[in-house]
Amino acid sequence: MNDTTGVAGTPRDWRLERDADGIAWLVFDKANASANTLSAETLEQLRSLLNELAHEPPKGLVVRSGKESGFIAGADIDEFERVQNVGDALAIVRRGWEIFDQLAAAPYPTLALVRGFCLGGGLELALACRYRVVVDDPATRLGLPEVMLGIVPAWGGMRRLPRLAGAPAALDMLLTGRTIDARRAKKLGIADECVAPRIMMNAARGVILAATPPRHLPFPRSLSLVPLARPIIAAQARKQLEKRARREHYPAPYAILDIWVKHDGDALAVPASDPASIGELIRTPTARNLIRVFRLQERLKSFGRDGGAPVRHVHVIGAGTMGGDIGAWCALRGIRVTLQDQNATALKPAMQRAGKLFADRLKDSRRVRDALDRLIPDVAGDGVARADLIIEAIFEDLEAKRGVFKALQSSARPDALLATNTSSIPVEEIATVLDEPGRLIGIHFFNPVARMMLVEIVVGAATQPELVPRAAAFVRQIDKLPLPVKSAQGFLVNRILALYLDEAMRCVDDGVSPETVDQAAVGFGMPMGPIELADTVGLDICLAVGKMLHPQAAPPRKLTELIAAGSLGKKTKRGFYDWSTGKPAKAQAAPAPPGLAQRLIKPYLDEAKAALGDRIVADADLVDAGAIFGTGFAPFRGGPLHYAASSGG
Ligand code: NAI
Repeated sequence: MNDTTGVAGTPRDWRLERDADGIAWLVFDKANASANTLSAETLEQLRSLLNELAHEPPKGLVVRSGKESGFIAGADIDEFERVQNVGDALAIVRRGWEIFDQLAAAPYPTLALVRGFCLGGGLELALACRYRVVVDDPATRLGLPEVMLGIVPAWGGMRRLPRLAGAPAALDMLLTGRTIDARRAKKLGIADECVAPRIMMNAARGVILAATPPRHLPFPRSLSLVPLARPIIAAQARKQLEKRARREHYPAPYAILDIWVKHDGDALAVPASDPASIGELIRTPTARNLIRVFRLQERLKSFGRDGGAPVRHVHVIGAGTMGGDIGAWCALRGIRVTLQDQNATALKPAMQRAGKLFADRLKDSRRVRDALDRLIPDVAGDGVARADLIIEAIFEDLEAKRGVFKALQSSARPDALLATNTSSIPVEEIATVLDEPGRLIGIHFFNPVARMMLVEIVVGAATQPELVPRAAAFVRQIDKLPLPVKSAQGFLVNRILALYLDEAMRCVDDGVSPETVDQAAVGFGMPMGPIELADTVGLDICLAVGKMLHPQAAPPRKLTELIAAGSLGKKTKRGFYDWSTGKPAKAQAAPAPPGLAQRLIKPYLDEAKAALGDRIVADADLVDAGAIFGTGFAPFRGGPLHYAASSGG
């Protein structure tokens, strides 16, 4: 291994090389790290290099990454976690702001050559260069995800991004944290060139040597930057934002808007008493909790490491609501899928939904066609013999599921992973029909498949432990978050949701309106009220899950009445709400009776604790991760167990 402690004057994380054309190539290759991140140390090294270059200016400077994994993943999050007070936070902001300003002021042309991820501080560095060349590669993603961590892109991103892309597009990225690909970066004007990987070095050299004047936002998009127009644009953005997030829950996006409008993106110019100031942002627990959520997400991702060879072919049996969408999602993510159902008619709706999903997500007609080619209707079940993974998603019926696995075990490859999507039948009960019951594992998706991030990996009593990383790696391959859970009733997510929904419906039985119940939960920070959620899931399913988990309790009265009347929620256009327009028709909510939010949340917290006690997942953090990514539990509160502990519950 290289000596990375560095000789005096030799930065350990950056390599500076000058070529025959006089161009300086600055290669970022952070020592002992798989990805480049910007820490205080790496930034100070960059500062000294820029000082060095100032003494002997090159013809141009190209900044690129020495890592296969990408350009720069962002600032070093460990440093945020060590922040103790406002002074610490301001020191982080000031360092990046100054160094990137120094880069932006270089008298020679500067260029960021971006391949792979270019996020947060990484994009801010790229924006400080005069030019950006992005590589057209599926891994190239540019974005400023700070807002998702409850912080703001304070190293120049709030100032420079609007200047390149125009305010509306820039605010969209700044306020949502959404990333864009290389082609979009070019289209928005963030990148000067978007090139194929094989010509990237030459393209960078060409742009530097041509040294054309830096791009300016063309008219009329430039109007969005005029000081008089800013408050109007910000007011529009704020209106959209208010629909998604409340300032008391998520202060960062509001701060971004204020900093852009009043201080042209300079967070250091914000007075300390202003709610948009760095001091105020770190005063609430939101940023710390959102960073915790980021860590929980990384933890879930880590279950998918070391899972062996990627899955190339998935065979899905049962093309209903779940199986159809699971198959489509896998095909969208590049896997060949054979989709089996009892007859061609049963497959048709799934194929139609898949076509719509591909069109929405892929846009480009050639890519849509390729995805459709990967999704193969297969009534005869020919795919079984070739598949690396077989997922069963037929009716929730033990004998029917046993029949499927009994039939397929002789034709499936001996090394194929066998999985069931059951939501309530113990995996080990289905597995009894297999010669080797240890071969079966649960891969439990949530509805709607395209939107729900979490997938529970259900480990049956007999499941071979080595199947867990394999199943988790598959879940990562399709860009979802795996959570290993014990095969016990309701696993984790349905178990904690069931009692919460049940309590909400009992509040309605007690005379509180559905609107008031929902408003109280949203006020707490849930993404959707529990009554609306029950209607969305289907009231018959809520009843069945409730009965399964708590057979001794009488179901909520109103729930029983609605089901008896055939009102099953969204799918029948009537439930607790009227859904005839596709959305719940809600009346104005009456003020909540005192303690309503606490009443609603208590069973949720109690069940989360009970699930931990029953070791459904390995530890408290994983209960919180499951709750956040599987049920949407208010992320800014850091998860139910974290919230219970920090609020003395
Ligand atoms: P569904 O009723 O929409 O679809 C079942 C499909 O399986 C139907 O198209 C049917 O024709 C087909 N099928 C039945 N027997 C078959 C066989 N022997 N061979 C081939 N195809 C067969 O059911 P849904 O809702 O998709 O549920 C499927 C599984 O997923 C169940 O185990 C359920 O518990 C689970 N699940 C359901 C969720 C939901 O929200 N609907 C969420 C998570 C899991």
